[in-house]
Amino acid sequence: MAAMPSDGLTLLIPEDELRAGVATLAREIDRDYTTTGVVIVSVLKGATIFTADLLRVLQAEVHRLEFVRAGSYGGGTESSGDVRLAGTLDPRHVNGQHVLIVDDIADTGYTCVAVKNYINGLGPASLRYCTLLDKPERREVEVQYDYVGFTIPNHFVVGYGMDFDERYRGLPAVYYFPDA
Ligand code: IMP
Ligand code: MG
Repeated sequence: MAAMPSDGLTLLIPEDELRAGVATLAREIDRDYTTTGVVIVSVLKGATIFTADLLRVLQAEVHRLEFVRAGSYGGGTESSGDVRLAGTLDPRHVNGQHVLIVDDIADTGYTCVAVKNYINGLGPASLRYCTLLDKPERREVEVQYDYVGFTIPNHFVVGYGMDFDERYRGLPAVYYFPDA
């Protein structure tokens, strides 16, 4: 059992709501991939727990699970806008496939643009983006998120895979720093 937060974190989305939100997303995704199946590309590290839960409730066939790593924060709470991608995909795993990118949170939008551009360059049959959380107030680039679990206010959040300086990923619910 992960330690409960003791440093002023405030609960934003409890576990049961996360579970219901993930199930709703899975039904939407299932509808779009029933006939084709899907290749999932999860964005490390924040989306790990969401991806694991989503996979276990999806009914569409998942042909393959791959990972890319994206980062631009480097310890702070503000995106630098300069997204670094690491962990290359084998083009054969993406080319001609229906690909779904799975991410933890949509903030400025730069990660979405960078990951989509990279995968589009590998020639997928289709490409969609799923994010568990969305902070639309923070958007700096116009991008399309095809599946959104929860739209949230402009708070820095942690837990359920998401970190602040690598901490709090193991919390089972989503919390925020009230004054950040
Ligand atoms: P974007 O590129 O600004 O849209 O940022 C997306 C990435 O930044 C997410 O995939 C997260 O890894 C990270 N991020 C953005 N907002 C938060 C937050 O509130 N808590 C933790 N990580 C965040
Ligand atoms: Mg992320």
